[in-house]
Amino acid sequence: MSSDSPRGLGRKLTSYGDPDFSRFMRRAFLASAGFDGADLERPIVGILDTSSDFNPCHRDMPALLQAVKRGVLQAGGLPFAFPTASLHEIFISPTTMVLRNLVAMETEELLRAQPMDAVVMLGGCDKTVPAQLMAALSVDLPALHLVTGPMRTGSWQGQRLGACTDCRRLWAQHRAGDLSADQLDHAVLELCATGGTCMVMGSASTMACLLEAAGLALPGSATAPSGSGARLRQGVAAGRRAVQLALDGGPTARQIFTADALHNALTVLCALSGSTNAVVHLAAFARRAGLGALLPNLDAVARQTPVLVDCKPAGSRYMEDLHNAGGMPAVLAALRPLLRLDAPTISGSTLGQLLEGHTGPGAWQDLIHGLDAPLQPPGALRVLHGSLAPRGAVLKAGAASPALFQHRGPALVFDGPADAAARIDDPDLPVTPDTVLVLRGAGPVGAGMPEAGSLPIPRKLARAGVKDMVRVSDARMSGTAYGTVVLHCAPEAAVGGPIALVRDGDMVQLDVAAGRIELLVADDVLAARRRAWRPPALPERGWARLQVQHVLQADEGMDLDFL
Ligand code: FES
Repeated sequence: MSSDSPRGLGRKLTSYGDPDFSRFMRRAFLASAGFDGADLERPIVGILDTSSDFNPCHRDMPALLQAVKRGVLQAGGLPFAFPTASLHEIFISPTTMVLRNLVAMETEELLRAQPMDAVVMLGGCDKTVPAQLMAALSVDLPALHLVTGPMRTGSWQGQRLGACTDCRRLWAQHRAGDLSADQLDHAVLELCATGGTCMVMGSASTMACLLEAAGLALPGSATAPSGSGARLRQGVAAGRRAVQLALDGGPTARQIFTADALHNALTVLCALSGSTNAVVHLAAFARRAGLGALLPNLDAVARQTPVLVDCKPAGSRYMEDLHNAGGMPAVLAALRPLLRLDAPTISGSTLGQLLEGHTGPGAWQDLIHGLDAPLQPPGALRVLHGSLAPRGAVLKAGAASPALFQHRGPALVFDGPADAAARIDDPDLPVTPDTVLVLRGAGPVGAGMPEAGSLPIPRKLARAGVKDMVRVSDARMSGTAYGTVVLHCAPEAAVGGPIALVRDGDMVQLDVAAGRIELLVADDVLAARRRAWRPPALPERGWARLQVQHVLQADEGMDLDFL
């Protein structure tokens, strides 16, 4: 280890007030791990390991990690894997979103403090990937994303099943009395048939595809199933590429995530009819990268981008089908006229160069459509504004009911997810199919923005055959969910946004074509209600308290104001 090492293990010394002693100590401990002088001059590739017994989506990650290490060693680098917190959607209470910023901070500080020249970030389940990119943008080092990949589908009674759109569909059938508990007990064993992330175009799959579109992951890496040979080859390729990034000193995450990259990611988000959660994460990335407010950009892109990809929940297929149909390279080739092709990518080529010679989706498949025959017209994601959401709200129109796109109905208000859970199935609930279900107190400050926005259809209506209703909230919803659900109303109720002032029976109007969500209550009435409004109490301690004191609203990505 040279005394002025520009890279590798000689960087970022522990502070003892004597740099030579710091290097001496580092050599001593590296020797204990079997490293000698020949090793110490090599470029160091950090590898973020987010495997965890609490994260079945990442259960194939140990093999993927070994593949990355193999690639790093082949290219002459040294791989240094290290753990960071791992968040699984179903094993974190009350919601992973509360901890995304904590993981982003942990990851940022470890990337900043430890000696590495580049990093491969292994993630997958919904919040891991956004947390990693937020960290990489802030540290701004050469960084390459690699997801663990989606699950393959299962099978039950001749039905192809996948998490979690089919989980929701089967549960809704059970609530409506159309599926017995015994049938559900059998189906549940096939909903998550393999390791990997949810295999519909939910939040994890959407983020994986957006990273590839934005040039932050290698071509073809978004869709290969977890545990497959294709996934492992992506690992080796990522390891090799990371060594070159380490030797070259870049490009860094910020050099890749430019306004053009953001445009390309938004275009793909709309073409996928992807998860609304991506809107919150992209807003956080844009803020950290200094690219300004996201919602105006999203609105502009959404108005011109049709849906091309037929994946659940907006379509009918699964991620392994998308992979077999050509994956993201084919999607990007189909979208070429709408993309900014000069955008750099982590591969070293521009997006346009990567797509050179690609003739577009094969005629032999019908999952990826062309711009000349899209699956749905532009507008799968809609940005809404209005008196109920002055700073914006989002609707996944591609997975909603067009019959409800122009709707006026009386509000029925739930104060938080617990209130909704306690009352939604009350046989005496004053609700009709025209009612607008309003959930509040579930925004970034109020509850950490859980995926509670897609309130279930009240049981008495579900049993009468009602499949969808207008729902409005300051919460998020799962990327695997569907329905006419207005999300992310900002400002949220817990900071006194207009949604805090809604009362049962107030008329609410949704007008998707006009991009409006309105509370039809007179200004003087609202002013009187506002005077009576009081903010909720702060959490008593710990991360929850710190986050509530500093968290930004959904339109700013629910990031922390000091990051
Ligand atoms: Fe991990 Fe869906 S629960 S990706």
